[in-house]
Amino acid sequence: MKFFVDTADTEEIRELADTGLLDGVTTNPSLIAKTGRDFIEVIKEICTLVDGPVSAEVAATDYDTMLEEGKKLAGVAENVAVKVPLTMAGLKTCSQLAKQGTLVNVTLCFSAAQAILAAKAGAAFISPFVGRLDDIGQDGMNLISDIVQIYANYPNLNTEVLVASIRNPTHIVDSALMGADVCTIPPQVLKQLVSHPLTDKGLAAFLADWEKTGQKILG
Ligand code: E4P
Repeated sequence: MKFFVDTADTEEIRELADTGLLDGVTTNPSLIAKTGRDFIEVIKEICTLVDGPVSAEVAATDYDTMLEEGKKLAGVAENVAVKVPLTMAGLKTCSQLAKQGTLVNVTLCFSAAQAILAAKAGAAFISPFVGRLDDIGQDGMNLISDIVQIYANYPNLNTEVLVASIRNPTHIVDSALMGADVCTIPPQVLKQLVSHPLTDKGLAAFLADWEKTGQKILG
């Protein structure tokens, strides 16, 4: 399973990219607004930090403007994936951009029916938002299970299931169990993944015993 980080903060991205754990980045207009920086500049910088896909979202809602925005964003760097919302105009834009060889991430997916449409439109990624479904009392992971199962029925489909709106490590483990292709993870959740109290306890005991040997590995 691939790991994308869900942020537009270039310092956070730089730090995580250095770990070698990162396969891509997703941004959205809210994350861009948080940076207070110029959108195109931020995307350009992020694209130099990771080799994998960097999602940059269109701001228009009509097809013609969306398409123009998508073309502009795709021209920023080779690894830009243009993000479009799951609307009829977004799907039409997806179709057109995909035909031109642009990677498209169809976002704001909340149903399996929407995911089927995105795949038909040639999306490289479908982004179902699990946390936002959990927030309204539904089980977001059921949607991932359905989409993974549906896409598996059509081996020629190239659309990857990109689990979005992740809130905790369990969302990631469940995504892996279900065979989702990608998780886009907020930086704080990515850091939580590494932590286990027994790891900390075990390491402290090993270090204390090592100290007693009086030895050094280096020098
Ligand atoms: C995905 O691409 C979105 O940027 C993101 O996962 C949305 O998450 P949120 O529901 O935490 O805003």
